[in-house]
Amino acid sequence: MASSLVLIFSLVLTALESFGTQQVEARAFFVFGDSLVDNGNNNYLLTQARADAYPYGIDYPTGRPTGRFSNGYNIPDFISQALGAESTLPYLSPELTGQRLLVGANFASAGIGILNDTGIQFVNIIRMYRQFEYFQEYQQRVSALIGSERAEQLVSGALILMTVGGNDFVNNYYLVPYSARSRQYSLPDYVEYLISEFRKLLLRLYDLGGRRVLVTGTGPLGCVPAELATRSTNGQCSAELQRAAGLFNPQLTQMLLGLNRELGADIFIAANTQQSASDFVVNPQAYGFTTAKIACCGQGPYNGLGLCTGLSNLCPNRDVYAFWDSFHPSERANRYIVQNILSGTTEYMNPMNLSTILALDSRT
Ligand SMILES: *[C@@H]1O[C@H](CO)[C@@H](O)[C@H](O)[C@H]1NC(C)=O
Ligand SMILES: *[C@@H]1O[C@H](CO)[C@@H](O)[C@H](O)[C@H]1NC(C)=O
Repeated sequence: MASSLVLIFSLVLTALESFGTQQVEARAFFVFGDSLVDNGNNNYLLTQARADAYPYGIDYPTGRPTGRFSNGYNIPDFISQALGAESTLPYLSPELTGQRLLVGANFASAGIGILNDTGIQFVNIIRMYRQFEYFQEYQQRVSALIGSERAEQLVSGALILMTVGGNDFVNNYYLVPYSARSRQYSLPDYVEYLISEFRKLLLRLYDLGGRRVLVTGTGPLGCVPAELATRSTNGQCSAELQRAAGLFNPQLTQMLLGLNRELGADIFIAANTQQSASDFVVNPQAYGFTTAKIACCGQGPYNGLGLCTGLSNLCPNRDVYAFWDSFHPSERANRYIVQNILSGTTEYMNPMNLSTILALDSRT
């Protein structure tokens, strides 16, 4: 009698314990890519590609700059919120130790592209192959913490976000007239080359254990305030950069669906961020913005020239601007983009949206 009571008691304890750990461990989240998703890695690097000074972060809960290229939250932050998790820390943050490693990590670095020669002017940034090396190092650290079997489960059960490609146009092919890449490739051939290199990166991510990977395309590259200021005479989107995005994004989706067919599973999910951003670029008022042409922070035409600094023009109400600085969406625009990632139709998410993924994965 006494011994069976003890047995029941210890069974209940075990059940409570496993329930407890499940509660603590929301699904891990890993982020790879460029400034659209960097949440502070570049703060630890000697590079000009950084967002660590006022007024960046002015609407972040702390009201202080974090390294995010936003007035407040960025795309990964809203995805973390949807997962019921705290935001991932930058991989280079000294605070990313112990149990915090189990939340995941952000490896993204502003300025990088698919290609190693993209963003060369920013010198010390974490290029894609290096982000993957850090991911391997991360996995070793987590294995040391919870054992290799649980570490593998944590990675295969994780959600991954990959956002890269825009810089291969604006900070490479179109960085200067007659750039090396534009002399080497016609635009269609360059896009094909980018897609083939991107494919290799994604297969590498698969080899490293990634099994649910959201892959965003580029936004409407020709419509950002920086391009309106430098390539447009009448406030219309730059036709050339729009052509680049228009070639790249559909081929990216096809490449991802092809990879899934080869791998026999829906590993890669295409997020049509070009469509989401085009929604508010074409019709800002319908999404609560007064403008999608003028950046909130900057100078020159459309506030599209140079960097956003403490000396720039700064709009009083960031929520009515679709663009925070000359290249990056405002927090409010990021929220809309993630809303579509979560519950958009197949026009936005292919083959399915994140809500569907979360529901599917919670059943397996
Ligand atoms: C990028 O650089 C890394 C490290 O030098 C190298 O391993 C990789 O092959 C390069 N990628 C391309 C596409 O050249
Ligand atoms: C996307 O997510 C929502 C749930 O938030 C769901 O109702 C909807 O049917 C999904 N759309 C598609 C096309 O899968």
